[in-house]
Amino acid sequence: MKVLITAGPTVEPIDPVRYLTNRSSGKMGYALAAAAAKRGHSVLLISGPTTLEIPEGVDYLPIESATEMYQAVESQIGRHDLAIFAAAVADYTPAEIAEQKLKKLGAEMTLTLKRTKDILGSARKVMGFKGTLVGFAAETENVVENARGKCLRKDCDLVIANDVSRRDIGFDSSENEVTLVYPDRSEPLPQDSKEHLAFHLIEIFEGIHSQPSGNLDNHD
Ligand code: CTP
Repeated sequence: MKVLITAGPTVEPIDPVRYLTNRSSGKMGYALAAAAAKRGHSVLLISGPTTLEIPEGVDYLPIESATEMYQAVESQIGRHDLAIFAAAVADYTPAEIAEQKLKKLGAEMTLTLKRTKDILGSARKVMGFKGTLVGFAAETENVVENARGKCLRKDCDLVIANDVSRRDIGFDSSENEVTLVYPDRSEPLPQDSKEHLAFHLIEIFEGIHSQPSGNLDNHD
């Protein structure tokens, strides 16, 4: 299969020296890219800045902002059979990027933000992607209900949900415990290392892709 993976945080510039970002380490996305390549798939990793090494045998497309990630995905997704959206994309970005370094003025300052485009939510509706579509949902409450809402709204075959209110798993940890949330059912998986979990998830995605309901014909 040809597999596209988004990973890591996005970085939203405020002025030439400042930016907004988030705590995503990129570990889960990179582990998925490494596992997919080891299982013989052709992998394109579109990633925001991380401290991780690019996995062996993976094509790498670095981006910084949510807008750059949107453009990279839009130009590449049509060539792929499976798209996995593991990136922590900023939902808002500064409404304007100051050309010069902002000077301090009063005791308070207000930064105006505007919504970014939902890349996963555009994959089917705007970009016309017909392959297997997998999203992630980082939740702090009502994990399965919220993830199912995302799965249905964004036309995913599967959403990988995790509870980021738990300190021992998730964002910067090397372990994760996730629930597979399908449009019509869900299945919790045991806590595992991100590396081991990544292999298991890739096998699951291969299974979905090989079913008639998980590939091209169902998304016309
Ligand atoms: N995502 C994306 N582009 C965005 C925002 C999110 O591709 N601009 C993808 C993430 O990579 C992840 C999933 O969407 O796969 C997570 O969605 P999230 O931002 O949690 O969903 P929302 O529907 O925006 O939910 P919330 O109301 O919790 O903000």
